[in-house]
Amino acid sequence: MDSGVPSVVPQPVAAALTRSAIFLVVTINPGSAAETAVRGLCADLSALLRAVGFRDLAGNLSCVMAFGSQAWDRLFDGPRPKELHPFQEIRGVHHAVSTPGDILFHIRASKRMDLCFELARQIMLRLGRAVTAVDEVHGFNYFDDRDLIGFVDGTENPAGPDAIKAAIIGDEDAAFTGGSYVIVQKYLHDLTAWERVPVEEQENIVGRHKLSDIEQPDALKKPYAHNVLTSITEDGDPVDILRDNMPFGKVGAAEFGTYFIGYSRTPRRIERMLENMFVGSPPGTYDRLLDFSRAVTGSLFFVPTATFLDAVTAERAAPEAGAPAPAAPEPAPASPSRSSGDGSLGIGSLKKEAGHE
Ligand code: HEM
Repeated sequence: MDSGVPSVVPQPVAAALTRSAIFLVVTINPGSAAETAVRGLCADLSALLRAVGFRDLAGNLSCVMAFGSQAWDRLFDGPRPKELHPFQEIRGVHHAVSTPGDILFHIRASKRMDLCFELARQIMLRLGRAVTAVDEVHGFNYFDDRDLIGFVDGTENPAGPDAIKAAIIGDEDAAFTGGSYVIVQKYLHDLTAWERVPVEEQENIVGRHKLSDIEQPDALKKPYAHNVLTSITEDGDPVDILRDNMPFGKVGAAEFGTYFIGYSRTPRRIERMLENMFVGSPPGTYDRLLDFSRAVTGSLFFVPTATFLDAVTAERAAPEAGAPAPAAPEPAPASPSRSSGDGSLGIGSLKKEAGHE
């Protein structure tokens, strides 16, 4: 049944919020062999995901694979996502650092961390010496979807069609319709200092009530409230991003953090929010959360469609960025494509490849 609509399938950017997640950021090692190995994984990722996810289908395992600006140029020919660029550091009242990252794997499962862990392990086994892990965070769900500063995080996230509208590229970049941009930042909280702040002032800083999670009335919100500075408009209309922040930490090391992850159809929205938070709007009226939360990483990635990933072969770039995958893509000699067209998972080829550098 041909509806005439190009059949690009986005990656699961707008997957339901989960109780477990791994955020894995890697850099690609020098040399064309490393690039070949990474390209070889692209089309096999969905088979790895199926193999691990099938062990508990109710676990809703998902994975988003996204690429940094330099990595994109190393890996792929053809058109480039219009707004893909390295994360720009911000030096305002506080400092938003820019840190290395060529590929982000955002792995989520509704409850089971073991599913996330096993998929991350299989991905790294597959990539071997082609990459270096530069950051790995295992996020967990904390009580009523609270972050470690004690506030419910995610309430105002768009859902359903609004989530798609916020996060997925439409016809503004026709070669990459169905794609998305993602910015990640790892924040460490000074919980001792935060807990000295009276709850009423904490609520002013976030712009919501702590226990009930009810938003403060607009007229009573402080100009420095987090939800004031992160509410932005385009042509007079409010616009959203899609967040899936997760708490993480190591109690013995007194490390308490929030891993910020924001998807958007344009990185500009998240960048504007960050400017408001770090520089202030107006300048100086910055986000007081940052007095207690330090950004220790910052990277920007492009999320191509699943269709794009499926069409990548080890030896050459995807044929056409936004085009649907061919019915029976030719297997690349060095790394057999998972899309054999016969409906098989290509596990045989994956087994052969395991341990391959
Ligand atoms: C220390 C890191 C952060 C923490 C602990 C945090 C926490 C929160 C909390 C508790 C809320 C209110 C509940 C909700 O609607 O989700 C919120 C809202 C929000 N945050 Fe953050 N956040 C952090 C960083 C960021 C960053 C870096 C951005 C964007 C660049 C951002 C964007 C937003 C947006 C857009 C909202 C919804 C505002 C609204 O429409 O009411 N957050 N955040």
